[in-house]
Amino acid sequence: MIAIDEKTITDVALAQMAGTRDPRLKEIMACLVKHLHAFAREIDLTPEEWIDGIKFLTAVGQTCTPYRQEFILLSDTLGLSSLINSLHDRRALENGTKTSLLGPFYRQDSPQRKLGESIAANPGPAEICIHGRVVDTAGKGIPNASVQIWQTDDEGVYDLQRNDPSVMDLRGTYHADAEGRYNLRTVRPLGYMIPMDGPVGDMIRAQGRHGYRPAHIHFLIGAPGYRELVTALYLRKDDHIDSDTVFGVTDSLVTETTKNDPASPFPNLPSISFDFQLAAAKAEDATGRVGADPSQITKKTVQSSH
Ligand code: BEZ
Ligand code: FE
Repeated sequence: MIAIDEKTITDVALAQMAGTRDPRLKEIMACLVKHLHAFAREIDLTPEEWIDGIKFLTAVGQTCTPYRQEFILLSDTLGLSSLINSLHDRRALENGTKTSLLGPFYRQDSPQRKLGESIAANPGPAEICIHGRVVDTAGKGIPNASVQIWQTDDEGVYDLQRNDPSVMDLRGTYHADAEGRYNLRTVRPLGYMIPMDGPVGDMIRAQGRHGYRPAHIHFLIGAPGYRELVTALYLRKDDHIDSDTVFGVTDSLVTETTKNDPASPFPNLPSISFDFQLAAAKAEDATGRVGADPSQITKKTVQSSH
């Protein structure tokens, strides 16, 4: 019988998990336990601090609904989602457009729209155009690539945050033309504060952080034979462009509208021109999504028997 103390406990716990059948699960859990124990030892975690952590994670879980994903928000605000995206890009066969956060407001099955259509129910004076091409890493257009887009309105609010979150607005799915060209209309989004009325907001305030994301537009782009791209374009003129609370901004994704763009299909509208580059797919590239439609996460899954 081994004496359990603050040093031996790690090996004892790992030994008990050694029979894990799935080798990747075994590797992940062993590494997690080692780092978790090392963290508790290094910080000399007290019972009060431990229960505060349990209360915090409980509140994070209790805040999740089919329309809200507080765990993804926690991952985002800790920089974990951004780190997972960077690791995902490093594993790609080729360097395409960089990945950026999917965020907690993605929804599956957004309305199918024709090129040139607007995603905004009420565009108003903030209307802009976004146009460009979806290309491979050699610059060749990818015909019929699917382009999903979602964003906040000109007040910085997503449809999921409105009174009736089942109504979809400022989202759409387009298909590029035979040369990979796409164009669409939308409104200039406003930067916004991440949802601050839950436990993650409490954490952000306790850390003296402002909680803002700079104005951005999300994209999920795919085509058969190519690696799915989850990314976003960020607007340079936003005050928080250099201090995104969720670490999604990177230089190559920062852009701005220009006036009288002769290449724009809507030259009278302020226009963003951006080409998205997709890397070739690898067999194991099932998805590049760090996140999901919140309603898919809360769905009950059938438990496998052991
Ligand atoms: C967003 O871009 O929608 C987002 C991402 C992370 C946290 C909150 C919002
Ligand atoms: Fe967003």
